[in-house]
Amino acid sequence: MTGTGGKKGGRVRKSSGRGQRDLTVKVKTARGRRNSSTRWLQRQLNDPYVQRAKAEGYRGRAAYKIMELDDKFRFLVNGARVVDLGCAPGGWAQVAVPRINALGEKSGKKIGTFLGIDLQEVEPLAGATFHQLDFMEDDADVVVKDLLGGKADVVMSDMAASSSGHKQTDHLRIIALCEAAAYFAFDVLDEGGTFVAKVLAGGAEGELQKLLKQKFEKVMNVKPPSSRSDSSEKFVVAMGFKG
Ligand SMILES: C[S@@+](CC[C@H](N)C(=O)[O-])C[C@H]1O[C@@H](n2cnc3c(N)ncnc32)[C@H](O)[C@@H]1O
Repeated sequence: MTGTGGKKGGRVRKSSGRGQRDLTVKVKTARGRRNSSTRWLQRQLNDPYVQRAKAEGYRGRAAYKIMELDDKFRFLVNGARVVDLGCAPGGWAQVAVPRINALGEKSGKKIGTFLGIDLQEVEPLAGATFHQLDFMEDDADVVVKDLLGGKADVVMSDMAASSSGHKQTDHLRIIALCEAAAYFAFDVLDEGGTFVAKVLAGGAEGELQKLLKQKFEKVMNVKPPSSRSDSSEKFVVAMGFKG
């Protein structure tokens, strides 16, 4: 990060300690910017995954979460048909497209397909199809099923509603999104398929876990290293859909 000085107005500076260089980027609170926004900005600027995503060309730090989950559980295989719910800005898509061979670059290997859904428009990406849609709307599942045109091997969801600032409300909202994604997965997954979804630890996910355990051979709860330790976010990875 560049920039010096400490004028009021939100400039960013690198602070240096005596003898030892401290590269922590400090952000001054600008007039009109809430303290929480300043904290968010400071955390972003100092987050190694944000910096790594920038250097490696990923659209966001979220890319590392699916990378780490897939490195561990190997569900993004050549030829996989993948649906990604809440896919913007497209970091998970960038990771999945080469792994499932959606561009057919690995000769002799099966070619996968990638369909991403989000409330927001997503910048195009070779090998991926994106569709702008509110997944919580009535009949959204029917629309996605039509777009998919058949079964899927992986349904993954990183959907998150914008924070209300109230922990319990946010938890219930994310569980609702996760449940909608899970019911969609029950509908479209082929036998043996995988469901991956973000949840927030906090209590209400018990019912969902119970349901997933009935429908899948294995259900794991994981916090990938790139998931911020101060967030209650975790991922459920359910493998071996029983059909
Ligand atoms: C954390 S971001 C996803 C990041 C993404 N995995 C990536 O790697 O780029 C969460 C996304 O969920 C989307 N979302 C939240 N509610 C949604 C809904 N009801 N329908 C579709 N997308 C939704 C948001 O628009 C947001 O883009």
